Amino acid sequence: MTAPADPFRFTTLAHAGRAILGPLSPGALGELLGGLSLPAPPAVLDVGCGKGELLLQALELLGGTGVGVDPNPAFLAEAAARARGRVPEGAVTWVQARLDEARLPEGAFSLLLCVGATHAFGGTAEALAGAHRWLGPGGRALLGVGYARRPPDPAYLAFLGAGPGALPPLPDLVAQARNAGWRVEAVRESSLAEWDDYEEGYAAAVERWLAASPGDPEAPAFAARIAAWRDAHRRWGRETLGFALVLMGIPEDP
Ligand SMILES: C[S@@+](CC[C@H](N)C(=O)[O-])C[C@H]1O[C@@H](n2cnc3c(N)ncnc32)[C@H](O)[C@@H]1O
Repeated sequence: MTAPADPFRFTTLAHAGRAILGPLSPGALGELLGGLSLPAPPAVLDVGCGKGELLLQALELLGGTGVGVDPNPAFLAEAAARARGRVPEGAVTWVQARLDEARLPEGAFSLLLCVGATHAFGGTAEALAGAHRWLGPGGRALLGVGYARRPPDPAYLAFLGAGPGALPPLPDLVAQARNAGWRVEAVRESSLAEWDDYEEGYAAAVERWLAASPGDPEAPAFAARIAAWRDAHRRWGRETLGFALVLMGIPEDP
């Protein structure tokens, strides 16, 4: 019997050698969290934490404890290794699960991070509708969301398998957050340099792996996948995609 294919293999390879799995420079999170005052003691939940770099940065800045949730065991193994020596022993717990399988205490966190992972909720609208469930009074959510810097080409949406409303412009996203009752406190847009670093690094990591693994049974499929992705990004994505960190206070707060 052959072992089932690892569903995370492509994304794990594409993010090899990268700590933050999105178009963000190492200091991006600190620009929003520096000076933030949270109910003590800070308790941070990171939904779709990847390699845990953003959660670890948050704990380094704010102190307190953290829980990182992600279904990819390879990312969580790296997260656990990264945590050593950066936060006190036992300050962070890694939960290998999808958000809908993770048993998380409601109302127990003062900061929820969900950066590049709102699909864990079902999408950005669902994240805006549901993220406050895990926050206590005075809590904040920091979402990292994609948006359209200009109207997406229908062919690009078709390539992404996305519907017409899937990539709203940033003002619409901010309005959506306010309509969901959040108090929007800060918005940070990623630069084109951050995007280029991320997208070129993503493709280069897969190409490095392909060069080193010519006989791998998944190599032909991964080669086709990264070629199509890079082409679509250069043709449409680079001009179209935006990414923003949005820091928000929960609706109940005055
Ligand atoms: C683009 S990465 C972002 C990782 C991290 N937030 C960062 O910015 O470095 C998206 C992450 O969401 C995780 N993910 C996918 N589906 C998920 C789900 N249903 N629940 C929780 N995490 C999920 C993936 O495994 C991946 O690590």
